[in-house]
Amino acid sequence: MMEENMVHHDPLLHEALGRGRTLPAPWYTDSELFEREKERIFAANWNYVGLVEQVAKIGDFLACRVGEVPVIVVRDEMGALRAYANVCGHRGSEVVLEKSGNRRTLQCHYHAWTWGLDGALRAAPRCQEQAGFSKGDFPLTPLGVETFGPFIFVNPRPAPRSLAATLGQMPTIIRSAGADIDALKFRERREYAIKTNWKIVVENFLECYHCLVAHPGFADLIDLDRYQVTTHEYFSVQRGPLKTSAKEKRKDLFEASECQEGIYTYLWPNFMLNIYPGPGNASTNLVLPIDEHHCLVVYEFFFSERMPEKEQREMVDFIDQVQREDIIIVESVQRGLRSGFYKQGQLILSRENGIQHFQKLVYSALAEGL
Ligand code: FES
Ligand SMILES: [Fe+2]
Repeated sequence: MMEENMVHHDPLLHEALGRGRTLPAPWYTDSELFEREKERIFAANWNYVGLVEQVAKIGDFLACRVGEVPVIVVRDEMGALRAYANVCGHRGSEVVLEKSGNRRTLQCHYHAWTWGLDGALRAAPRCQEQAGFSKGDFPLTPLGVETFGPFIFVNPRPAPRSLAATLGQMPTIIRSAGADIDALKFRERREYAIKTNWKIVVENFLECYHCLVAHPGFADLIDLDRYQVTTHEYFSVQRGPLKTSAKEKRKDLFEASECQEGIYTYLWPNFMLNIYPGPGNASTNLVLPIDEHHCLVVYEFFFSERMPEKEQREMVDFIDQVQREDIIIVESVQRGLRSGFYKQGQLILSRENGIQHFQKLVYSALAEGL
């Protein structure tokens, strides 16, 4: 159980975060805090939910979950993308149970109330027998939906900021690294069930202080002495040039290729978009919380057709290997945090400023305005 009133506006903690002290251990192990995160972080921000190509045709839909909110994204009759709470106004069931498909109406699997793709209730069996019943009283609840390149994001709350405002300069920075994410083709998706708090995965992503120790392959590829982390309002960027020795070894692959550096971007709260040196490529990581001790990480890989098949496979295997090295680390951190022997750590801010930026966003979302 969380210590009484642990999450409240605490000027001392806020000031400590400013000096690079970390969030205290209970922030990663407490179930009440986790419930608050679902509501105040995931249900109140832009969440990556899928690819535009998954809902390309009229009637295509995909169902997902954002925090505790079941969500359905559909391509409507006019060709516009729409998102709704996938929750039936009759008795509260989810309307659609399948993960994806194509439908001209959204019919609840429980008693067959049926909505159009525009969210208006079209039919409810025997509703004429109920005095005063009006279909107009039961539309599906629309949610915020916007796209960035091939990616769809949903915000369950009336959004105080558009996705574009949240992204800020992030798309420009990615383009400046030579990556044209719109031109890439989706290759595959991999999922990793991990025994750690979702924030530990994010924090591990946000620094390369551990790369020399934990990722020998990565350290051979990227020049860690010239690695930089910059933080912005709702995102941060890590970039490091391709090592000269790595370029020499694979002149055929790297010499004429569009990306000459690694660029690893993070968007609050749980989305990462990575470009590796080489011909056009991108990978996304999405960190989905399950409970305070578990999360699911979903990787997606994208390549330009200029990247030969063999090299595509090698890059996926390389990134998968780095991820396996990271899983050992992040599960170990969670065991340490649960031990009772870790109270509050200290960041090395020259290397771990990305974590400080993230922890301040977590603090603001959970502790401020209470
Ligand atoms: S709960 Fe959906 S139709 Fe009854
Ligand atoms: Fe790592």
